[in-house]
Amino acid sequence: MALIALMPGDGIGPEVIAEARRVLDALGLDLSFEEAAVGGAAYLTAAHPLPPESLDLAERADAVLFGAVGDPQFDGLERELRPEQAILGLRKKLGLFANLRPVRLFEGLEDASALKPEIARAIDLLIVRELTGDIYFGEHSRGRTHTGLRYGQDVMRYDETEIARIAHIGFTAAAGRRGRLLSVDKANVLETSAVWREVVNEVRRDFPEVALTHMYVDNAAMQLIRDPGQFDVILTGNLFGDILSDQASMCVGSIGMLPSAALDEDGKGLYEPIHGSAPDIAGQGKANPCAAILSAAMLLRHSLRLTAAADRIEAAVAAAIAGGARTADLGGTLSTSAMGDAVLAAL
Ligand code: IPM
Ligand code: MG
Repeated sequence: MALIALMPGDGIGPEVIAEARRVLDALGLDLSFEEAAVGGAAYLTAAHPLPPESLDLAERADAVLFGAVGDPQFDGLERELRPEQAILGLRKKLGLFANLRPVRLFEGLEDASALKPEIARAIDLLIVRELTGDIYFGEHSRGRTHTGLRYGQDVMRYDETEIARIAHIGFTAAAGRRGRLLSVDKANVLETSAVWREVVNEVRRDFPEVALTHMYVDNAAMQLIRDPGQFDVILTGNLFGDILSDQASMCVGSIGMLPSAALDEDGKGLYEPIHGSAPDIAGQGKANPCAAILSAAMLLRHSLRLTAAADRIEAAVAAAIAGGARTADLGGTLSTSAMGDAVLAAL
């Protein structure tokens, strides 16, 4: 029996994870669940955003289904105790370096997209984001200059092994899709990016069937709005991937539709909606549970190899959307649990 760690976290996390759990339960699979506190919720009960019991559960489990962390009430805490450290700590400690963020337009959501329908309809891309390096995990410091000015400093850094292993993931994904890989960097300005580009070009030799191109991140951000249909797999670092994936979400209607997987070298994974905790609508039953439900599907596919069950969930979400089910972010009136009902009905 597979053990799934549930980590609902803060804000809308608990509401959307509850719907994902209902969908998993409805499939009648051989799964067991254990829940642990993370983020601000864990800080309040255990004085740490990632208590040892929660980390231990994540290590023991076959996969982690994660909600969201973050709440403005903790903005004043020192960085090590802020809710975000839960997810950053899990990524780093579990070695979850490969972040897969699929972005596609569900039929019927053309009007919810910020783009013209004919442009939005063409979107079917995968962002492969490096998740345990870059400026996120370089040295962070603040201080005063000799003239007394306050400064902050964060080191951006990648070594070649970190780049090569995520490049392999990107090329492999592209080989299994439409065969096109776009590597996004800022090599016209940053040394980190110059090394990134060099190493990606070296890894390319193992994948002659994949067509590789490079693009600067500013241009990629622009192209993602102008003509997102041109993209198949986008390979990029931690910071650029964070930004581009939020941008891509609005191209397909709502950030409430986007799931993600964070995988280690052996395919163990943590799965989470990319939307975050949305404190402004927390506890009101307004959140869209689709991203969490689709994250559960990714969990079944990547960590448990239950392809048919994953397909079923994805088809049910597509059918619910095609049938007109809409939460507020999609311009509708359904509550979180009513949207869950619609997916369950389509299952
Ligand atoms: C994401 C989030 C996280 C990140 C935050 C919550 C630390 O924005 O998963 O995209 O920046 O990676
Ligand atoms: Mg983000």
